[in-house]
Amino acid sequence: MNHLVQALLVAILSGTLVAGAGWAFVQNGTSGILALEAIIVSPTLALFFDFSGTGGPLQINNHSAWGALWNLETNEPTALNVVSDTFCASGGFLSNGSMVSVGGQMAGAIAVDGRMGVRIFEPCSSPDGAGCTLFDNPDVVHLAETRWYPSSLRIFDGSLMIAGGIHEQTVFYNTDPVNSFEFFPSKDKGVPRPSAFLERSLVANLFPRQVHFTHKVLALPDGKIFMVANNQTIIYDIETDTEFILPDLPNGVRVTNPFDGTITLLPLSPPLYVPEVLVCGGTDTSDQIPASNLSSQDPASDQCSRITVTPAGIQKGWEVEHMLERRIMPEMILLPNGQVLIINGGQTGYAAIAAVGVLQGNSDADNPALTPSLYDPSAPLGKRISNEGLPTSDIPRMYHSTATLTPSGNILLAGSNPNPSLNETVKFSTEFRVQYLNPPYMSQQRPALSGVPSKIAFDSTFTVGVTLPEHVLGVLPVVKVALMDLGFSTHAFHSSARLVWLEATLVLDHKTLEIKSPPNNRVYPPGPGYIFLTVGDMTSVGAHVMVGSGASPPVPDQGRKI
Ligand SMILES: *[C@@H]1O[C@H](CO)[C@@H](O)[C@H](O)[C@H]1NC(C)=O
Ligand SMILES: *[C@@H]1O[C@H](CO)[C@@H](O)[C@H](O)[C@H]1NC(C)=O
Ligand SMILES: *[C@@H]1O[C@H](CO)[C@@H](O)[C@H](O)[C@H]1NC(C)=O
Ligand SMILES: *[C@@H]1O[C@H](CO)[C@@H](O)[C@H](O)[C@H]1NC(C)=O
Ligand SMILES: *[C@@H]1O[C@H](CO)[C@@H](O)[C@H](O)[C@H]1NC(C)=O
Ligand SMILES: *[C@@H]1O[C@H](CO)[C@@H](O)[C@H](O)[C@H]1NC(C)=O
Repeated sequence: MNHLVQALLVAILSGTLVAGAGWAFVQNGTSGILALEAIIVSPTLALFFDFSGTGGPLQINNHSAWGALWNLETNEPTALNVVSDTFCASGGFLSNGSMVSVGGQMAGAIAVDGRMGVRIFEPCSSPDGAGCTLFDNPDVVHLAETRWYPSSLRIFDGSLMIAGGIHEQTVFYNTDPVNSFEFFPSKDKGVPRPSAFLERSLVANLFPRQVHFTHKVLALPDGKIFMVANNQTIIYDIETDTEFILPDLPNGVRVTNPFDGTITLLPLSPPLYVPEVLVCGGTDTSDQIPASNLSSQDPASDQCSRITVTPAGIQKGWEVEHMLERRIMPEMILLPNGQVLIINGGQTGYAAIAAVGVLQGNSDADNPALTPSLYDPSAPLGKRISNEGLPTSDIPRMYHSTATLTPSGNILLAGSNPNPSLNETVKFSTEFRVQYLNPPYMSQQRPALSGVPSKIAFDSTFTVGVTLPEHVLGVLPVVKVALMDLGFSTHAFHSSARLVWLEATLVLDHKTLEIKSPPNNRVYPPGPGYIFLTVGDMTSVGAHVMVGSGASPPVPDQGRKI
């Protein structure tokens, strides 16, 4: 390619010749319940869960609902009949496409005890959610332990690994811990596995952050979990029930509840899918100070720490850089182009409600961080984070807020309620307004995928139709294809979120794309996902796929070993 053509191509692909709006926040609709947990359950629906005692306006059976389907097309909620209390639960998809919500709070005025809750939302193809069912009966299906504030993650056999939590009410620190892991469906005859890591990481280890990765490290079987709790990190090998201690987060930074920072697995690239983990925000406050001595005005951490989870990477240790602002309770959202959006949270204080000595209203945090940033994993250290071109929101998203990428490719933002229940008069009042953060491509001509198979096997090749934006026709466009799990958002963490780059070749006619699926179920845990096509700065709408056989867990290993 000569230099002129190359320069033109770069200009075209970077969008400089394309007219249209930039990034924008758009507020549309209200959630009716507090959206303190959020997961995309179909191309048109998000599912929100709340605390049964919030008392939001959306009604079901003559009481306030605490579950709702959010219609991404009409921007309206529909109440869902939830039986047990989903306050501070977590969840994720199984390999068969059912979404499972686990854990929760003690019985309330209407809700039954949700701490052992296992709520099963069966796959639902009805665009508006009519006829979708949520099975919620803790007498019939339940966890082995009571768990409030646990985390959960889909693993290589399509089950959920459920970690940590607390048995009883906590005001701030984890004073009655559940220091164990368990699975759904259960393993080990239903006996939870004690975790020395959770024991060591007390008292700030609620919602331990987990990511699933595959790489031959430490000469063990493949398919492991990287975990962070408090300022400590491990690799956990599920198959041998072994924990390997990795270096602490640098500079005393702590990132699990009530010191919520956030973590993400960075995009995985063929052929080796080398795992890199990014941890941002939280606080460097000691976990030995009583809550009453802390203040909502204490500065949060601006630190981002990154590690490559290979023997060489672990040897090298954490690489540190700084966000443009301090953030407690940020969320990181993988974008289909491989960048990471850093959004939400406060610049000072802590998570939890009305616990610290100096409050702002009922909030343990203050000074909302209203301008998101982008993190570019491929840029050099110190040049990865920027907020250039990003807008500033007028809606604080503090404790109990959520954010998720949608199948359309924009970001859904909802919730925020650092209050014990509905409070419309305090600073950081109960937030029902739903917002989208639209990337520039939402208002421009986008590439499109067609004929994407609804189910794709591991280590296979499939062909899809593409329509490229007019401005790239006639040039040799660079295409990037991302397979993404959009994750489950709660408490400043996006469990199971994942981006795997798929090898893709544009056939000469520019109308067909040949795509290779992930090699095996350790690279992408079997279950649902979305395939996005990015051409230059333009990303398509995501196509919903089931990756793997779609069988119920546990499923056997599939595909080719790497
Ligand atoms: C609904 O709840 C209200 C207030 O609790 C009560 O007065 C009313 O009788 C209830 N209606 C039905 C149909 O149960
Ligand atoms: C809000 O969403 C509805 C339904 O999609 C749409 O008709 C309306 O134009 C949207 N309003 C704004 C301000 O974007
Ligand atoms: C992690 O926290 C513990 C106390 O909770 C402390 O002893 C240790 O030094 C911290 N690690 C680092 C690297 O700061
Ligand atoms: C907490 O505050 C009290 C009262 O100001 C003080 O006496 C105590 O030393 C503080 N404790 C810690 C661990 O900072
Ligand atoms: C809202 O919070 C403020 C500050 O704690 C409190 O004074 C007020 O009573 C609360 N309102 C409700 C309805 O709980
Ligand atoms: C998926 O598996 C779970 C656990 O066995 C089961 O409860 C659920 O009904 C299954 N869903 C489908 C669609 O088969």
